[in-house]
Amino acid sequence: MKKNKKKELSTFKKINRRDLIIGASSIGAFSLTPKKLLSEEANPENLPPNLPEWTQYLGDGVDVNPYGMPSEFEGHVIRRNVEWLTASAESSVNFTPLQDLEGIVTPNGLCFERHHGGVSVINPQDFRLMINGLVDREMIFTLDDLKRFPQTNKFYFLECAANGGMEWRGSQLNGCQYTFGMVHNVQYTGVKLSDLLLETGLKEKAKWVLAEGSDSSGMTRSIPIEKILDDCIIAWAMNGEALRPEQGYPARLVVPGWEGNMWVKWIRRLEFGDKPYMTREETSKYTDLLTSGKARMFTWVMDAKSVITSPSPEKPILAKGLHQLRGLAWSGRGKIKRVDVSIDGGKNWKTAQLHSPVLSKSLTRFTLPFEWNGEELLLQSRAIDETNYVQPTISELQKIRGVNSIYHNNSIATWLVSKNGKVDNVRLG
Ligand code: MTE
Ligand code: CO
Repeated sequence: MKKNKKKELSTFKKINRRDLIIGASSIGAFSLTPKKLLSEEANPENLPPNLPEWTQYLGDGVDVNPYGMPSEFEGHVIRRNVEWLTASAESSVNFTPLQDLEGIVTPNGLCFERHHGGVSVINPQDFRLMINGLVDREMIFTLDDLKRFPQTNKFYFLECAANGGMEWRGSQLNGCQYTFGMVHNVQYTGVKLSDLLLETGLKEKAKWVLAEGSDSSGMTRSIPIEKILDDCIIAWAMNGEALRPEQGYPARLVVPGWEGNMWVKWIRRLEFGDKPYMTREETSKYTDLLTSGKARMFTWVMDAKSVITSPSPEKPILAKGLHQLRGLAWSGRGKIKRVDVSIDGGKNWKTAQLHSPVLSKSLTRFTLPFEWNGEELLLQSRAIDETNYVQPTISELQKIRGVNSIYHNNSIATWLVSKNGKVDNVRLG
């Protein structure tokens, strides 16, 4: 390929791009589509003052893509998994590419997936939601029945309790996507369970609900009745269209602010009882082993957390001068009140700008302009929610939790920016 002189001068940009790709592939998880992603050389013939070639012929007509897809030049913006992390793809996880997203909405095709028994394929005609146990009238609803109730449309984040779970003893994977990407944020359309239950009635003794999925893992979780009546939803749509199969089509349970595992997909049954059901997912799993040898259980709420999405290991700094630091913050206890950012490893903090909408139990976008003159930086962000809870450092968290947990790691992370603009996930102290 003919090289442009101007381009050859910009070695800084090229070195970093290559470093990023080598760094990432060393953990064996990036599946790049090199054709477009690596074609970083612009064709000088297309640049001003020339008229670019694509103005000289007709483009595709309508209906070439009856369901539209992103530009082919965005082929690197995909969910990614870490193959060695799990034994099989059916019981596994992949990660949302947070570093490539803007605003607060996660596009449907990029929402991370976490399945314990693969994706169930359900004809909506065969869908039924059964409500039984301590209710006045046991009932079975079709999808159309559910859609006749008053509907609610709400943005909520869903975070897997295991997000960042590998980082308890030190930094592990060198990526924003891998260390923070088990979270997504979409607008759910559905029926509030408090409305649905007006139809079945509730016996006074009903204190707990067993939510059961109809996938091959038979996912089951106990949820206290107060939460069910407060803000839980049976959702059939995300971001304006039907749920994706991966996200529980045709309907899933939405448990705002609480750990993702409870958001039962492919929901088939809600049983009302007077005590928790003590299922596998709330006894052997989704509990937190403490240094005393005892384990915490029923740790449902996802505490305030934040991530700097750019700069980040996948988004090195490519030039000196003014940049916009970008990130996301969220809290399972309500709205984000403030996000602080440090560029010196937590010695000094500046308040970032929060972008509207700032919604309860939803991702919140923050930015902060900063000047980079080629010096090393230690980037950190710290979220504070409307209850005044402050996102902890890892050592503050370890004092209470030890290092044996997998779940509920909401500690402040550190990105080291090196003098060449490369960014790495590091652990301070
Ligand atoms: N529901 C069923 N039926 N089966 C599952 O495997 N995985 C749970 C939860 N609900 C799961 C499920 C876990 S651990 C998480 S984190 C979320 O779904 C992930 O939701 P997502 O795949 O839409 O990101
Ligand atoms: Co999970």
